[in-house]
Amino acid sequence: MTKLVYVLNGPNLNLLGKRQPEIYGYDTLKDVEADCAKLGSKLGIECQFKQSNHEGQIIDWIHEARQEAAGIIINPGAFTHTSVAILDALNAFDGPVFEVHISNVHKRESFRHHSYVSLRADGVMAGFGVEGYQLALRRMASVIK
Ligand code: DQA
Repeated sequence: MTKLVYVLNGPNLNLLGKRQPEIYGYDTLKDVEADCAKLGSKLGIECQFKQSNHEGQIIDWIHEARQEAAGIIINPGAFTHTSVAILDALNAFDGPVFEVHISNVHKRESFRHHSYVSLRADGVMAGFGVEGYQLALRRMASVIK
């Protein structure tokens, strides 16, 4: 049976491919979405791919996932480092949560070294470029089966 996984992306990730490509690369979020859909279909996972620049919208999607999704893959962008509210929402979700960062946040400014989301995440991918989403999806497939 196909399982639904929410793939959530936070602020500025709509500019992926155009924004600081030396850090985030040239693939767009549409490319990432297409790659996730392709891999998901092989793994028996349907990806609901969503992006917002607004913290409250991301929280609402996490609440929605409580009813709808078997797991959450999330790149919270800069909210990673600031949002107790996203952490609280994720703590109200029962399934597996994987956190993805395209860049290696630990190699960057010290304010990026702390993640509120990591206090809840079952696993973290950082610095694998956009391939991190695929790696998280593979791991998701093995834990939700
Ligand atoms: C990011 C890392 C964050 O520090 C940054 O604010 C982002 C993207 C990443 O994918 O590497 O917007 O989450």
